[in-house]
Amino acid sequence: MAVDRGCFSSRLGFILAAAGSAVGLGNIWKFPFEVGKGGGAAFVVMYLAFCFILCFPVMVAEIGIGRKTQRNAVGAFTVLGYKNWSIVGYLGLVSGVLILSFYNVVAAWAFGYFVEMVTGNFDIGNNFGEFTKDWVTVGSYAIIFMVGTAYVVSKGVSGGIEKAAKILMPSLFVMIIALIAYALTLPNAMDGIRFYLVPDFSQITGQVVYSALGQAFFSLSLGMGALITYGSYVSKKDNIVSAAASVTLMDVGVATLAGFMIFPFVFSQGIETNGGAGLIFVTLPGVFEALGSTLGVFVGGLFFLLLSFAAFTSTISLLEVPTAYMVDEKNMGRSKATWLVAIFIFLVGIPSMLSNGAVDSLTSFITLPGPGTLDFMTFIGLIASDTFLPLGGFMIAVFTAYVWKKENFNLEMSNGDATMQASLLQRYVSFAIGYICPVLLGAIFIVTVLDNFLGIKILSLILG
Ligand code: TRP
Repeated sequence: MAVDRGCFSSRLGFILAAAGSAVGLGNIWKFPFEVGKGGGAAFVVMYLAFCFILCFPVMVAEIGIGRKTQRNAVGAFTVLGYKNWSIVGYLGLVSGVLILSFYNVVAAWAFGYFVEMVTGNFDIGNNFGEFTKDWVTVGSYAIIFMVGTAYVVSKGVSGGIEKAAKILMPSLFVMIIALIAYALTLPNAMDGIRFYLVPDFSQITGQVVYSALGQAFFSLSLGMGALITYGSYVSKKDNIVSAAASVTLMDVGVATLAGFMIFPFVFSQGIETNGGAGLIFVTLPGVFEALGSTLGVFVGGLFFLLLSFAAFTSTISLLEVPTAYMVDEKNMGRSKATWLVAIFIFLVGIPSMLSNGAVDSLTSFITLPGPGTLDFMTFIGLIASDTFLPLGGFMIAVFTAYVWKKENFNLEMSNGDATMQASLLQRYVSFAIGYICPVLLGAIFIVTVLDNFLGIKILSLILG
C-alpha cells in the first residue's frame, strides 16, 4: 500500500465534512418536496423517527468499520477478513455512481438558477420546464459543477474536502436563518407552518413509508459506504458515537429548518405542495421577485448560492467513495483517480440530464405499479437512493452485529479500550444494530419493494 491516503486534521474537521456530505440537496430540495408529496407533517414524523432510531446506529457502524480498517467501502470488508461481504461495498459503489450521476444534474439546476437570479431573471420560475429541457445549458452547468467537485476531491482529505466544508457549512447555516426570518414575515406563512407541523396520519401509505426511509438514508449519506470512507480518515482517538450524533443532529436540523423556510414561501404564493422536483425551483423565484429588483436579486442569489454550496459538499463525498476505491484497491494516484471517475460519472448522468423534457422516451421512461409513470432521473433515484441505500444499511447492520461481531464493534466505539464504561448512547447503538435495524430495515424493505415494484399494498391492508 504505497499511496498516502490522507486523514482529517481534527474531530471538528471530520464532523463538518460528514455534515457537509449529509446536508445537501436532500435537505433543501428533496426533503420539502417529499414532505409535500407525503402529506406534510406525517411524513416529517416518520422521517425523524427513522433518522434517530434506525439511521444513527447504522452511521456509527459505517464510521466504525471505516476507522477500524482505514479502507474504502470495498476494501474495508476484505481487511476485516470477510471478502464475500465486499459485495456490500460494490453495491455502494454502484449506488454512489448512480446517485452522483443525477445529483450533479440537480446541482447544475441550482447553480444555473443562481446565475439567473443574479442577472435578475425571476421569470425563470415560470420556465422551469424549459430550463431543465435545455440540455446544452444544463449540461454546461453540470460540467462546471463536476469539475469543481473533482478539483476539491483531487486536493485530498484535509487540504480539499475538510477545508471546503469548514468555509461552506457555517455560511450555509447563516444564510438559512436569514431566509427563515424573511419567510415568516410573508402572508399565509402560518398556513405553511401548520401543513408542516400538524400531522394527518391518514396520509401514511406504503409509498410514504418507503420514501421517508429512503429520504432518511439519502439525507444522512448512509447505506453506500460514504461514511466507511470518511470514517477511514478519522483519528483513532476521536469519539465516533458522539461525532455521529452531531452529524445526525446537524443534518436533521438543516432539513427541519429548510421546511420552515420553504413552506411559508409555498403557501404565501398559493402554490400546490405536491409539485415534486420542481417545488423550490418553481416557487421561489416569484417570492424573490416580489422583493423588488435590488433586494430580490440579493436574496434570490443568496438562496441558490446556498443550495449550490450545500450540493457541493455532498457531490464531494459522493465522488470520494469511488475515488478512494481506486486509490486503495487499484493503487492509482488520487488526482488521476478523481478525474477518471468524475468523467465516467458525468457520462452516466447524460440520460438523466436528457430526461427532463429533452428526450420524450426518457421523460416518460417507465410505469411502475406503485409510483406510476416516472422519468429516467426519478427512476434512478428510486432504485439507487430509495432501494439500494436501505438495503445497504440492512446489510451493514447484519454484518456489524453478526459477522464482524458486536464485541469488536463495541471495542471500536470505545477506541480500543475495553475497560471504558459505555455511554448510554453507545449501548443503544450496540443494541439497535443487532436487533432494531436488521428487523425493521428488512421488514420495511420487503414491504416497500412489493408496494413499488409489484403494486402489492401490504401496508395499506394493515393500516386499513
Ligand atoms: N446526503 C446528501 C444530501 O442530502 C446526498 C449524499 C451525499 C449522499 N453523499 C451521499 C447520499 C452518500 C447517499 C450516500 O443531499
